[in-house]
Amino acid sequence: MGKLIVEGPVRLTGSVRVSGSKNSALPILAAALLCDERVVLENVPNLMDIHTMIEILSAAGCRVFFENGVAIIDPPTNPCTDIPYELVRKMRASFNVLGPLAAKFQKASVSLPGGCSIGVRPVDYHLEGLQKLGFSIKIEHGIVTAEMEKKIDEAIISLPFPSVGATEHIMTTAAILDGTHTVIENAAMEPEIEDLAIFLNRAGCRVLGAGTKRIEVFGVKKAHGCIHKIIPDRIEAGTYIIAIAATMGDAIVEGLDVSHLISLFDVLKNSGVSLSQLDRDKVRVSMDRRPDPIKIQVTPYPGFPTDLQPQIIVFLSKAQGTSTVIETVFKSRFQHVDELRRFGAKIEVSDGTAIVYGVERLSGAQVSATDLRAAAALVIAGLIANGTTSVNEVDQIFRGYEDIVQKLSNLSAVIEYQK
Ligand code: UD1
Repeated sequence: MGKLIVEGPVRLTGSVRVSGSKNSALPILAAALLCDERVVLENVPNLMDIHTMIEILSAAGCRVFFENGVAIIDPPTNPCTDIPYELVRKMRASFNVLGPLAAKFQKASVSLPGGCSIGVRPVDYHLEGLQKLGFSIKIEHGIVTAEMEKKIDEAIISLPFPSVGATEHIMTTAAILDGTHTVIENAAMEPEIEDLAIFLNRAGCRVLGAGTKRIEVFGVKKAHGCIHKIIPDRIEAGTYIIAIAATMGDAIVEGLDVSHLISLFDVLKNSGVSLSQLDRDKVRVSMDRRPDPIKIQVTPYPGFPTDLQPQIIVFLSKAQGTSTVIETVFKSRFQHVDELRRFGAKIEVSDGTAIVYGVERLSGAQVSATDLRAAAALVIAGLIANGTTSVNEVDQIFRGYEDIVQKLSNLSAVIEYQK
């Protein structure tokens, strides 16, 4: 495992371009399994998680070519519907190939996703959804097998919580269940769900209502090929915006979709950050003082995203007063807080809520990244802290941030990756 050495404090200036969305590309790659013809995806970020999904598609028998942000996926001539544990354990999103494979080839087996560093992440909604779509589910030796049991005319699936992964999994599986009308109630509304629906519809499927709480899928016989461009990564964009604001910098973030980041913009404006939209996909971020304290509730989209919660806590750690961050998506996602205390941050956590007592300065420290977004948060802490910070066990940052060292260096950060 490598480490990132960060020298601080620094003021970020210049500009940074956002890559394609990891969380959009992953379910779309999984959905490409449905297609009988070539799929071409553009703006695919070059990330570890994307390579894992490509390995899974290859294990399923697809021929995949990935270069310069373009992924070309040809359907399998000799399909394999048993996806091995070594691939699934690397990334939870790989579980989402179970339904598409079972819908297309009648039966598929995928290992249960392993434990997760941001808290308990069961797959019960996924499995209940697949059962309602007519699949039998068997779990043996840690492997889930889904097998088409009976054709269903209408499936009404009401999610207990608007799970992003379950919404995507059910939507994709239902897309080629010919003659089945599926309704997903209390669906997740994230932009990545809309992007997946656009992809599916381009491939000849019929998905309506994505981006709202009620999604309808009219199953078609087959999905054909298509060309699709992945949306910008709102979490990567948000991370750079927070980093610029936290360092009291003045810089431009381009290539983003501003409409996907309204909740973040509201929070930052309320704490004193100046955000001016220069174009549809370009924003200037500047901050000239310590932030005002704020109260944030982390909720499903369009609320404040859980994937920016660790980063915003770093930003608030130097606020002029006490802030509150209530996490409702992954209630125990606060592992980064222990590490932030090493910088001198004053944060208390209890019962899904972090109380952040703003301090005047942080000091560089040796810390360890516990998960992907925690790693990003610790790097931001290193940028605003006095002295040298070493973010150890940092490699998971490359699961979600394309060229992060180069992008931060271009923003005038002093940062180096060491093996
Ligand atoms: C996706 C994102 C992840 C983000 C999360 C929440 C991808 C690849 N990952 O993860 O970056 O942090 O959305 O925005 O897109 N739950 C259950 N049972 C289930 C499924 C979920 O109880 O079967 C619970 C989870 O434990 C969690 C909540 O639902 O408390 C939300 O999880 P979910 O939206 O499913 O997250 P992911 O899709 O795994």
